[in-house]
Amino acid sequence: MKILVINGSPKGERSNTYKLTRAFLDGIKSVHGDDTEIAVLDVNKLNIKSCLGCFACWDKTPGRCCISDDMQGVIEKLLWADITVWSFPLYYFNVPGKLKCLIDRQLPMILPFMNTDTVGGGHPTRYDMSGKKNRHYIHLRLLHRRKQL
Ligand SMILES: Cc1cc2nc3c(=O)[nH]c(=O)nc-3n(C[C@H](O)[C@H](O)[C@H](O)COP(=O)(O)O)c2cc1C
Repeated sequence: MKILVINGSPKGERSNTYKLTRAFLDGIKSVHGDDTEIAVLDVNKLNIKSCLGCFACWDKTPGRCCISDDMQGVIEKLLWADITVWSFPLYYFNVPGKLKCLIDRQLPMILPFMNTDTVGGGHPTRYDMSGKKNRHYIHLRLLHRRKQL
């Protein structure tokens, strides 16, 4: 089983969220043993520019972004993995900025139309993603104690 971890914390290995993710990976390894291959991508170390919103990846060069940076390698890893774990802390109830750039840049992976067969009537994927689980989220937030009035 191939597992990809996208570590979206700017703190890299020191991330508290990543510590939880490691515990999750240890659990998987204890069940699947040597069959487990794990790749970790540290978003903060990657060069991923913001999506330009030009839709070239849908019309001029289907499946290919016009920006040349590390994102093509990320897409290859997403296609490689059976399971993708998105590990990130909450930043203003959302994902950290660089991770949002990565998420947006997945646009070449989906097709430029919506389909009633897909979950929620969304865009079908350009690649065969059947059997892949790529919506595993581990995120950490501080629990702020509410002042009781
Ligand atoms: C810019 C910024 C925004 C944050 N926004 C939230 C938030 O909206 N909700 C929350 O519960 N915690 C928020 N936090 C707290 C982080 O989620 C918390 O520090 C987390 O433990 C960091 O995880 P990490 O060690 O994996 O990077 C924020 C922290 C930062 C630096």
